[in-house]
Amino acid sequence: MQSDSAATPAASAGAPPALVGPSGPVAGGSLIPTLPGSWYTDPGVFSREQQAIFGRQWLCAARGGDMPAPGQFQVVTAGSESVLVVRQRDGRLQAFLNVCRHRGARLCLEESGQVGRYLRCPYHAWSYELGGRLAAAPNLARMPDVDRDTYGLIPVALREWLGYAWVCLAAQPPSFEDTVIGAVTERLGDPRVIESYAPADLAVGRRVTYDVTANWKLIVENFMECYHCAPIHPELTSVLPEFTSGYSAQYHVGHGAAFADRVAGFTVDGSPGFGRLPKVTDDQDRRYYAVTIRPQVFVNLVPDHVIVHRMIPLAPDRTIVTCDWLFDTAVVASGQDLSRSVELFDRVNQQDFAACERTQPSMNSRAYRDGGVLVPSEHHIAGFHAWVRDRLAEASELGQCCAGETVPGCGGALSQARPTSGTRGGVSRAATGN
Ligand code: FES
Ligand code: FE
Repeated sequence: MQSDSAATPAASAGAPPALVGPSGPVAGGSLIPTLPGSWYTDPGVFSREQQAIFGRQWLCAARGGDMPAPGQFQVVTAGSESVLVVRQRDGRLQAFLNVCRHRGARLCLEESGQVGRYLRCPYHAWSYELGGRLAAAPNLARMPDVDRDTYGLIPVALREWLGYAWVCLAAQPPSFEDTVIGAVTERLGDPRVIESYAPADLAVGRRVTYDVTANWKLIVENFMECYHCAPIHPELTSVLPEFTSGYSAQYHVGHGAAFADRVAGFTVDGSPGFGRLPKVTDDQDRRYYAVTIRPQVFVNLVPDHVIVHRMIPLAPDRTIVTCDWLFDTAVVASGQDLSRSVELFDRVNQQDFAACERTQPSMNSRAYRDGGVLVPSEHHIAGFHAWVRDRLAEASELGQCCAGETVPGCGGALSQARPTSGTRGGVSRAATGN
């Protein structure tokens, strides 16, 4: 508990009228409800989200540059599935369910690796071409009726964008342009704005993976608001003083938060970072833009680097967040010290995730049975809650709330409970890079 006076900078700064959210002032009062606490703890809700959201939306799964050569692969978790992303001989990436068509063994157990011509199941040695077609199996010549395409790996939709492989488990994925690129357009006003930073051409300077003991929605909600910025982000608000107002720039189309006059770069101590990326415009210089791409991606744009978060929910109370710091390839290749740039958002991440972990245990409390409230600077989070509710309702109408199967008359009943993970303490993190 903090012992200082009640007047935090966020509260005392007041709310500039121009910063009222997209739906304008809220009729009926300052406070509007959050989701109930059980939505953050109930294994049934989590299972429905895995099917209705993570099983149907586009998910940012892997950095293409981590698999530059043909035959290189990564195994990623998408919803409740294990997915194999493989670099093809023609340079494209393709994705498949990581399940052998014979008797269901996991084809690849390693997180990443490289094969030659074939992906070979270690169980009975069925082998698949990089493009998924069944190539060989013991005694296959004696089974001429077996069609090698029919028994190939099950493909998963894949798009490459911003240098990442985005996958979608749905048989008929939603429009990538409307959903993923649409989120960027909604936030920045024009999807071409992000091209100024050319994220696909940048190199990963640092990657940190955080194991967060909190529900994925708490992490999204936290990223969407800045009411918490003054209390918990001293380094960030020192670089971006307008964040002390408690108002996130995320609901202002095209607005980027300006750096403080005394600050030279987006670094933990305000020291200079690196040279501005070549296509960043004067208008974009010395500004920070944040974009939320539902359900699991945050993109942060500053003049000399890009920070991309991608999340994998593993349980109602556990989420893996992988954060990439992307810099100009020449900066990374030169071996320059990236630590002052990286440390700023690494601290922000640790502060944010600690706040989410502090919140998670209370989701089960009687005090939070009906949920909490959103203040005006958080009202736009209600749009995220509505989106979650709509996705679950949509799936229920289709009877697809139970393990992705069509269940007549299911009507959205909570699907079979899956065990939650045990108690874990604190955000754990693992880092790679310069
Ligand atoms: Fe893969 Fe038998 S399960 S070859
Ligand atoms: Fe934060």
